[in-house]
Amino acid sequence: MKINSLQKEIEQLKKEKNAIILAHNYQPKEIQEIADFLGDSLELCIKASEVKDKDLVVFCGVDFMAETAYILNPNKKIVIPDLKADCKMANMLHEKELLEAIDENPDAAVVLYVNSIAEAKQHADTLCTSANAVEIVASLNQDKILFGPDSNLANHVAEKLDKEIIAVPSYGHCYVHDKITVEDVELKRKEFPNAEIICHPECRMEVQDACDEVLSTGGMLKHIAKSDNDEFVLGTEVDMITRLNKEVPEKKIYPLLEDAVCETMKFHTLEKVKKALIEEQPQIVLPKDVSEKSLKAVEHMLNASK
Ligand code: 13P
Ligand code: SF4
Repeated sequence: MKINSLQKEIEQLKKEKNAIILAHNYQPKEIQEIADFLGDSLELCIKASEVKDKDLVVFCGVDFMAETAYILNPNKKIVIPDLKADCKMANMLHEKELLEAIDENPDAAVVLYVNSIAEAKQHADTLCTSANAVEIVASLNQDKILFGPDSNLANHVAEKLDKEIIAVPSYGHCYVHDKITVEDVELKRKEFPNAEIICHPECRMEVQDACDEVLSTGGMLKHIAKSDNDEFVLGTEVDMITRLNKEVPEKKIYPLLEDAVCETMKFHTLEKVKKALIEEQPQIVLPKDVSEKSLKAVEHMLNASK
């Protein structure tokens, strides 16, 4: 079926079901076009806390994002078009490893990146996203922080603050951002000498240091929209450029690495979105105790971000 007619059917189904489609900035163009709300992880969390009037939430992102929406709305139907859309980095921190680190560091605050599994989230004092990690950690009384699962984001926070940041696990990373190198930055500087080079804090520290700005995907959009520059190179997932081409079409934006693609983000298709709307499946459901215990950390982050 053609993209256009599928999109029309989806629009009709959304009305019939009183549904809302939330989508992350890394979704492909045809999904971005049918989303009611597009955003970074923090913006999606905030939006997920405001969907009380909707009967069905279709979450086009990876599993931890849909789980966070469920934690905030345990009585609502949250569906994800493809249940296999997981985050490889979130899966790097297991509950057992986190509990061992907490045992070894009883005086540390536990800050987890929202990109974490729900079983780990339930043991966090607060969550953070790439948009607010530095502010959240700065706001805590403790000077010692267990931070997981992204060791690159942990290093980013450590560089900005005078606190002891212990990355759990020490090797946690996003395969999409971690493969961007300083050589990639140098090549793009030669190719686009007038462009501002911005990368995501999930990139390695030496890449962050070589770039002009380090921002979350939502931060990239805000920065580029108000900047006087008209050329940018972005070190993040390539479909962020799809979003920016729509929001700021007058700017020229190039990828820092052409094959920075998050495979699982692309598992969602229009056919699967349509099926999820019709069947109201596959649903995200978490064990009651895990969901209830995790809510404390999600709420801490949302309150700190107000
Ligand atoms: P943002 O919060 O910047 O959207 O990042 C989420 C993510 O998964 C990046 O890889
Ligand atoms: Fe996870 Fe990386 Fe994909 Fe973001 S880009 S969802 S961190 S694997």
